Amino acid sequence: MSIRATEQRETAAGEIVGAGGAATGVAATGGNGFYPNGRPVKKIDGTTVRMETEGLTVRYGVSTFGIQDVSMPVFDRSVTALIGPSGCGKSTFLRALNRMHDLGVDIEVTGAAILDGENIYEPQVDAVTIRRRIGMVFQKPTPFPTKSIYENVCAGLRLVGMRRKNVLDEAVEKALTDAALWDEVKDRLRSPGGSLSGGQQQRLCIARALAVEPEVLLMDEPTSSLDPNATMRIEQLIQQLKEQVTIVIVTHNMQQAARVSDYTAFFYVGEMVEISRTQQIFSSPREERTQEYLSGTFS
Ligand SMILES: Nc1ncnc2c1ncn2[C@@H]1O[C@H](COP(=O)(O)OP(=O)(O)OP(=O)(O)O)[C@@H](O)[C@H]1O
Ligand SMILES: [Mg+2]
Repeated sequence: MSIRATEQRETAAGEIVGAGGAATGVAATGGNGFYPNGRPVKKIDGTTVRMETEGLTVRYGVSTFGIQDVSMPVFDRSVTALIGPSGCGKSTFLRALNRMHDLGVDIEVTGAAILDGENIYEPQVDAVTIRRRIGMVFQKPTPFPTKSIYENVCAGLRLVGMRRKNVLDEAVEKALTDAALWDEVKDRLRSPGGSLSGGQQQRLCIARALAVEPEVLLMDEPTSSLDPNATMRIEQLIQQLKEQVTIVIVTHNMQQAARVSDYTAFFYVGEMVEISRTQQIFSSPREERTQEYLSGTFS
């Protein structure tokens, strides 16, 4: 399958499911093919579109475009890799998917990022709720270094007012287990987050992101500072997580993109050039620029 930005609206429009066309994997629909706001669930080639951007543009200051007019789907419970040269807008796009740019100064975001049929940039949508539903893991592990491992994982839950110890205990164990870290830290939950190794800290950050049970997880080069063993653990984790969570990952490692992702989107100079199934993009990309990038003959 290949999904070009110019074609995807047509394709998507042709494959919108109606009543009775249950969208597997989308809890929010109640299984009748519609979101609670009445919008129909979209499918492309039979796969549910969990998020979709339409003409998403991010401008830094007056003149620098981080991304320009990006329209692409993010498929439910799958891994989408974002690839492309440095400075081409991958991180900018990722941050726009959970309204992280709201926190920056002099950044203008236009267009739409639609989650479950609702544009997250609509004024009535609460950005904090969006960031709970759409979690983020950054390139460098960012635990609270002096807070305990336990408190690091709880941070998001405390923010939403969860206080009961037994509930927190359970959530911490589950998140650390899901992040493949529980066995290594279960006897030292009161140690500071900063006492863990880099790879463990990154898994701690993943546990922190998972604790609030996000529906979408955004990962910006999550293994770029890790050794091969820690990288492998995180890649395995991504494979397990996609059973429950929709994942978008930025990577400069083409082997990693090929190993972990179902779909790959190629970014170049602020534009999303093409998105296809990963297998296809690596074997026969449609666009010359993608071909050149993948073959290393990029000028
Ligand atoms: N906070 C910012 N203020 C001003 N310009 C920015 C900011 N963040 C990114 N940019 C610019 O936006 C463009 C896209 O940057 P972005 O960080 O999204 O690229 P990237 O594809 O993630 O690159 P890399 O692979 O190096 O991480 C670049 O021209 C960059 O200089
Ligand atoms: Mg980046």
